[in-house]
Amino acid sequence: MSTVEDWTTHDTTAPAHEPLVIDDQDNQTFRVHRSAMTSAEVHRAEVERVFGHSWLYVGHESEVPKPGDFVRRNLAGRPIFMVRGAKSRDVNVFHNSCTHRGALVCRQDSGNSKVFQCFYHAWSFDSEGKLKGVPDREGYSNGLDFDRLSLAKVARVDSYRGFVFACFDADVVDLPTWLAGAKEYIDLVVDGCGGSVEIIKGTNEYSFDANYKLLIENSADGYHAASTHDTYFKYLVSIGTDLQGGVIGQAVKLGNGHAVIEYSAPWGRPVAKWEPLFGEDAKVEIDRIRAELTERYGAERAHKMCEVNRNLIIYPNLIINDIMAVTVRTMFSPAPNRVDVTAWELAPTDEVPSLRERRLDSFLTFLGPGGFATPDDVEALESCQTGFSSGGVEWNDISRGMGRGPMANDEQQMREFWRRWQQQMGDAADLGGAR
Ligand code: FES
Ligand code: FE
Repeated sequence: MSTVEDWTTHDTTAPAHEPLVIDDQDNQTFRVHRSAMTSAEVHRAEVERVFGHSWLYVGHESEVPKPGDFVRRNLAGRPIFMVRGAKSRDVNVFHNSCTHRGALVCRQDSGNSKVFQCFYHAWSFDSEGKLKGVPDREGYSNGLDFDRLSLAKVARVDSYRGFVFACFDADVVDLPTWLAGAKEYIDLVVDGCGGSVEIIKGTNEYSFDANYKLLIENSADGYHAASTHDTYFKYLVSIGTDLQGGVIGQAVKLGNGHAVIEYSAPWGRPVAKWEPLFGEDAKVEIDRIRAELTERYGAERAHKMCEVNRNLIIYPNLIINDIMAVTVRTMFSPAPNRVDVTAWELAPTDEVPSLRERRLDSFLTFLGPGGFATPDDVEALESCQTGFSSGGVEWNDISRGMGRGPMANDEQQMREFWRRWQQQMGDAADLGGAR
C-alpha cells in the first residue's frame, strides 16, 4: 500500500491493488479512500457498476394518477420518463429516446398526454410506448416492422408502497429482495401517514460542488447536527422548544447497503408530535391523528410513528428523511465533484389544509435549499470536497461507534452503505489507468 506521503497531488488517485474501502474488524477501524469522491476513473466505474446494476428511485405513483399523466426524470444521468398507461393503467418507464433517430420524445417535465410526438420528424407514440404515427409512412418498404419500433422500456420497473424504482439491468434481483429490511421502514413512513401518501406537487432541485456520497453520509449523520446546525437549535430555543432530551437513538443495518438512524429529537412532527412552531391550534388535530394511529397499530408501533425520527438510506441514492417533514430525495453525481439533488415532500393523501401548510413550512424551514439545514450542509460538504484537493491525506475515517452498540450519532449507517458500494465496485486494481 502506498504511504500518505505518496498522496500529495490534489487529483487523489486510487491506490493500486487495494480496495477503496478498508473494513478492518480486528482493529475496529473503517476507512474510505478519497479517490472514491475525486477520481474520474472511479466515477466512470461507479456509473457503470453501481448505477447500471441497482434499483433506482424514479418517482412516486401519486405523481401520475391518471392515464397519460407523465413526469420526466434523469435517472443516473440518463433521460427517462414515467407515464401512466391509458390501456394497462400501469406505470411505464421509458428510455426518453425516439426509436427513429434518437431525439427526446418527452420534452416537458410533467403533464398529461395521449401521445408523445417527437419534434424532429414527428413520429408519435402512445402512453404504452407503441408507435402510432409515422409521417409519409409509404416512404418505407414493407420490410420495416413498425410494431418493433415502440419506445424502449427500462429493463426492470417495479414499485413498493407507491415508490417506483427502475433498473437498467434485466438480471437484477427483484425489488422486494433488493429493498430487504428497508421495506419495514418504508411501511412505517406510509402507515404513519395513514396508509395513503402522495408527493406534493413541486420539487426542490439544486446542485453543488461535492460528490453525491458525501450527501448520502450527511443525510443520516447524527454526529454533525449540534455543531453544523447550531443556528437551528438556537432558533428552536428562541421559540420555546425544550431541547433537554437532545438527539438520542440508534443505527440499524437493513441489508444490501440500506440503513437507518432512528432517534428522538426536540423538534415536532406533523405525524404526530406537537411543538410550539406548529402553533396552538394544531394541537387538536395532532392529538386526533395520534389517537387514530394508536387505535389502528397499537401503542408501540404508533409511538414509533409519532415520536421517532427516521433518516433512511436506500442504497445507492435515495434518502427518505421522516423528521419534521417527510422528505424524499435522490441525488447523482454527473462528475466526481458535483451533485444534482432533487427533493420532494411526501404527505398523507387526505391531510387537513392547516397541517399541510405546517408540513410544507417544516419542509422549507429545515430541509429546503434555503432552509436552516441545507445551506449549512452544503457548506460543510463543499468544504470537504475542497479539503480533498489539498492532498496529503489519503483516507477518510468512518470508524465511529465500531466498538459499541451503534448509536444514531455513530457512523455504522455510512459503513453499511460503503460496504455495499465496495462490493459493487470491486477492487480498485481493475479500474484502468487511474493508477
Ligand atoms: Fe424522432 Fe426522427 S428522431 S422522428
Ligand atoms: Fe445536516
